[in-house]
Amino acid sequence: MKIFVYQNNNVIYETIFSGKSILIGRSTQNDIVLKHEYISKIHARITETEEGFIIEDMGSTNGTYIKDRKISSSEINSSKCEVSIKPFLIVVSKEEEETDTLEIPALGEEVALENSEKSISLGVGKRLFPNVQKIVRKAASTTDFNLHFGFMIGETDQMKRVYELIKRVATQDSPVLILGETGTGKELVARSIHMLSKRPGLFVALNCATLGELLESELFGHMKGAFTGAYKDKKGKLAIAKGGTLLLDEVGEMPHDVQAKLLRVMQDRSFTPLGSEKEERTDARIIAATNQDITRLVNEGSIRLDFYHRIKVFDIAIPPLRERKKDIPLLVDYYLKTLSQKIGFEETIQISKDAMSVLINHSWQGNVRQLENTLEKTLLLLENKKSIGEEDLAMEDEALINTQPGITIKNTPTNLQDAEKEILIKVIKSTGGDLKETAKQLNVTLRTVYNYIKKYDIDIREVLRS
Ligand SMILES: Nc1ncnc2c1ncn2[C@@H]1O[C@H](COP(=O)(O)OP(=O)(O)O)[C@@H](O)[C@H]1O
Ligand SMILES: [Mg+2]
Repeated sequence: MKIFVYQNNNVIYETIFSGKSILIGRSTQNDIVLKHEYISKIHARITETEEGFIIEDMGSTNGTYIKDRKISSSEINSSKCEVSIKPFLIVVSKEEEETDTLEIPALGEEVALENSEKSISLGVGKRLFPNVQKIVRKAASTTDFNLHFGFMIGETDQMKRVYELIKRVATQDSPVLILGETGTGKELVARSIHMLSKRPGLFVALNCATLGELLESELFGHMKGAFTGAYKDKKGKLAIAKGGTLLLDEVGEMPHDVQAKLLRVMQDRSFTPLGSEKEERTDARIIAATNQDITRLVNEGSIRLDFYHRIKVFDIAIPPLRERKKDIPLLVDYYLKTLSQKIGFEETIQISKDAMSVLINHSWQGNVRQLENTLEKTLLLLENKKSIGEEDLAMEDEALINTQPGITIKNTPTNLQDAEKEILIKVIKSTGGDLKETAKQLNVTLRTVYNYIKKYDIDIREVLRS
């Protein structure tokens, strides 16, 4: 099926899906990712049928609409269908459908939700875009879209540099290597590259670490009987991503022989499914990602040198969140808005200055993903309050020892617990028992400090006297 996504009367995304069913939503696990506060994590599903489509709402907060009617599940017997998930309009058609002339229905009300620009409230009526291809290009070059690709938040110079690299590489066919700690947005960057690439095919992500022996067949596909358990032919991800993009996540976990085969795919675009005699071709663009130190992976032999040279041609390193603290308030605002709505608060939950400053100064080992999870947990636990205070933050207790590089320990303790206890006592002493300051110095929340004081049964008066 062919899919167009419209926002403010502009096509922001178009693609062809060969799968029978696609998921639309805000989280990166969807086939079409729409990063917008009104969109739920998994919002809707569109399934192609013989006669037309089945449109399902996946329990979204703001609903899925067909012709202004809110639906939970609806069967459409037509080769084309318009689904509105505000503020976007999704137009799906059977792939063979003529698509170079596209009718756009009235968007007035939906667009008004997005922002209050008058020029886009079309009201009733239809508009024709005679050449959709052109509009895709136009949409991709408006400044806002350029800056965030509609999906990425962050305005620090480090992130602008990342956007710049994405833009530069998107329209080429060369492989890309994405580096960054877990949760920094590697998959999001890969998707942005795919979306800006104008490739008509699918974006497919494959995690090399979780598949074990099945990785090779997942990648190349197999014929019935190729190995025990291969009951029928199976298309591999390289074939599914034909015309599109294939993300190989945690590429350091890929066995050497698979790397060698993949290298061949990248060089002459051909591969052979397991148990098949016939060579197949694919033009899938390969993006590799890892959260590990790539030089170490090469040095210790986890990544073959020839394969490494092929994938590292263009690399994008996403800086950890702690190195772009200025982006944290932007992300926090975004998540407070979307999560408040998702959880069902009447108004967007606010955050105190103190709490924001804890978030800004936290070390965020799990980066944006961890920040999002922390805020979600915080909101879920927030009782009858409209604003998050420092004491409300549901931070995970991080080992104090990880967050305090400057501290040296006198009598080398024999275990982590003793070390933590000693660090805590030392800081409590040095701050004269000011627990807020202690938390600040240790880069953890006040709540964490309390938890540790309880855990180690520390008597503050005792500490200050000693
Ligand atoms: N710059 C960003 N703006 C908005 N959301 C982000 C950003 N970076 C990461 N995220 C979100 O954080 C989560 C983790 O991102 P992901 O791309 O899966 O990270 P990685 O693959 O590096 O572990 C996702 O929910 C993603 O949408
Ligand atoms: Mg990932």
